[in-house]
Amino acid sequence: MAQRIYVTQPIPEAGISKLTAATGVDVEVNPDDRVLTHEELVKAVRGRAGVLCLLTDRIDADVLQAADGCKVFANYAVGHDNIDVAEATRLKMLVTNTPGVLTEATADLAWALLFSAARRIVEADRFVREGRFVGWGPTLLLGADITGRTLGIIGAGRIGTAMALRSVGFGMNVIYTDLERNATLEEKTNARKVELDELLSEADFISTHVSLNEKTRHLIGSEQFARMKPTVVLVNSSRGAIFDEQALLEFLQRNPSAAAGLDVYENEPELTSGLSLLDNVVLLPHIGSATVGTRSRMAVMAAENLLKAINEETPPNLVNPEALEGDS
Ligand code: DGY
Repeated sequence: MAQRIYVTQPIPEAGISKLTAATGVDVEVNPDDRVLTHEELVKAVRGRAGVLCLLTDRIDADVLQAADGCKVFANYAVGHDNIDVAEATRLKMLVTNTPGVLTEATADLAWALLFSAARRIVEADRFVREGRFVGWGPTLLLGADITGRTLGIIGAGRIGTAMALRSVGFGMNVIYTDLERNATLEEKTNARKVELDELLSEADFISTHVSLNEKTRHLIGSEQFARMKPTVVLVNSSRGAIFDEQALLEFLQRNPSAAAGLDVYENEPELTSGLSLLDNVVLLPHIGSATVGTRSRMAVMAAENLLKAINEETPPNLVNPEALEGDS
């Protein structure tokens, strides 16, 4: 009998055709291009051998328990904070993600945010469109220098490293925080590993690249904002809840010379009230990995992870190897 697979929302064709080309599977894709409600999700996962899900799907204990007998939840994202991994592990369900394939696209986007926030690109674009550009001005829309200044990277994993490597062309001084030393980063950029407090007070630009978990939720709150330069430029392309968004709003309101470039929000897609009224913030709709090539590679990787798991093979991007413990 064919193994039943469910895809919670349409993903690029390369991933879907990988699934449909596999033998012995019956693939169903949610035909609506929208996030399923929690109730719909609970219903949709019943009787499936594998579920390919998105970061917008909250795969909590209710969903996992409804999916009794399901072998894998293959997340179409590198971040997997949307899944209750501990519960999946308890139920012996595998969880996979898509690391590596979105590193460069996300680092590119983080730099786009850094430039846009530092040089007031969105504000300047609006200024021209509104017909307010009446001629060059010596003090018109002055922004922050980038070259030669200090870039602080919070989380020097794949994407944090890719972000830092791009700073070499701008002759920047790189400092970073991480649980471990990153020898490659230090060698290639002369980066220095520092404590978080030192990074916060020394950096002219701060870019966050940690995954979201109970230790990193609100890593940056009012106490941390108080240590920063009043001219700091912040970039967040990881997960919104790394920042206490209300404290971020208040910091940006108090410090009009500071700026932020955000791709992610604490309660996505909702924004903290007042954020969209500020000129010193650039707001994007979580498009870090949104290039044609990257999204296609993510789709293929998620599909391959899923197919391996339903065929009782260890998927290459397994988040919870503990779920296999006790299996022969
Ligand atoms: C991820 O994969 O976690 C990204 O946020 C998707 O863009």
